[in-house]
Amino acid sequence: MTAPHIQAAIQKKMAEIQTPFYLYDQGTIQAQATRLKEHLPGFEFLYSIKTNSFLPVVKTVLGCGFGLDAASLREVQAGVDCGLSRRDILYSAPGKTERDIRGSMDHAILIADSLHELALINRIAGERGICAEIGIRINPDFTMDSDHGAPGKFGIDEAQLFSCNLAQLTHIRPVGIHVHARSQELNAQVLRRYYANMFALAERCVQKLGMEMQFINLGGGLGVAYSTEQDSDLDTALLGQQSAALLQELRAKLGENTRVIIETGRYVVCTAGTYATQVVDIKESYGNKYVLVQNTLNGFIRPSLARLIAGYLPEGAAAKANEPLFTKMDAFDFALLTDEEQTEQVSIVGNLCTGADSMAANIRLPRAKIGDILTISKAGSYAYVLSPVQFSSQPVPGQFLLTTDGRMEECSCAAR
Ligand SMILES: Cc1ncc(COP(=O)(O)O)c(C=O)c1O
Repeated sequence: MTAPHIQAAIQKKMAEIQTPFYLYDQGTIQAQATRLKEHLPGFEFLYSIKTNSFLPVVKTVLGCGFGLDAASLREVQAGVDCGLSRRDILYSAPGKTERDIRGSMDHAILIADSLHELALINRIAGERGICAEIGIRINPDFTMDSDHGAPGKFGIDEAQLFSCNLAQLTHIRPVGIHVHARSQELNAQVLRRYYANMFALAERCVQKLGMEMQFINLGGGLGVAYSTEQDSDLDTALLGQQSAALLQELRAKLGENTRVIIETGRYVVCTAGTYATQVVDIKESYGNKYVLVQNTLNGFIRPSLARLIAGYLPEGAAAKANEPLFTKMDAFDFALLTDEEQTEQVSIVGNLCTGADSMAANIRLPRAKIGDILTISKAGSYAYVLSPVQFSSQPVPGQFLLTTDGRMEECSCAAR
């Protein structure tokens, strides 16, 4: 159910612009960020800007005291433009180019993702006559679910790292570690066990590599309840309580100064976002009712993508999550902003020249009229940034931040 103040803001904005848009609620973002900070004292937080790079949203999260998890040179630049210092921008991504490293070295803490990157950063730092303090992304001997490692493209395998002679790389000084095991975890116990494994990994790095551990970056994973029937909210209070003892032990072993960092995008912005579009046609075909709206998969791809994935599954099989593109079926709530009380079964489809632009099939909604506004929930994370907004040259959806004092902020700059 969309909150009344958000409904009112959506109606007003749609009357003005008559094209689809995202509305992000600043109050929700601040509440989510504040909850994390209150429930998990002793941790630092980085905003994973890849989740939603709309500048007023980014500034809202940073305004809550978050640093930045950047995954590209442009994301590093966005952090710099927002006034963050090098200490508060951690740049971690596989496949960084020489240009990426040269352009970011002074502005962000680089996290080397491979043996090649270690050597490349060392060479570039050497040319500049400096010793760069960096982090290393590790592919550890555990995952969130098991005590064994798994092959993958991210980071350096733990065993490979421990057999390296890092001392010969005289222009870098590894001072932190980073692992991102997965996104969208709702079980506090699973996260707590993962954090314990991470702290043990940090200790192994200190013992085997002689690292001065300035930071342990635990990556993301804080999940959001997508399906109100099947999911429960992540219990951040429990996670905080259970992690407090772990933190205490860690600090007793490694000292008080090690920064323990959690990255998150989804947790702070997902539920703050609503996608709004308008009904442009209504049809019946062979007994089925179709409500056509503007900009479906080209405006907000994830509902259509979920239906596409379901279409390829064998009968009765469950789809595996594939973040950030697909979380689960029925992750999003559809609502029509209308006083109509009579409901009917409809499919929500779009105005593109493809049958794949189907956002929902056979759901119950109030009887729609052309011009009604359809809203879709949980559109704050991995939504605009993943959608093919150029497809079919339809109007590109707008983005607005509804501020806590009722203003609508927009952004005409590149980082939208
Ligand atoms: C390295 C890294 N950190 C953090 C995140 C964000 O995590 P979450 O989806 O849990 O907000 C991602 C998402 O892909 C990521 O790749």
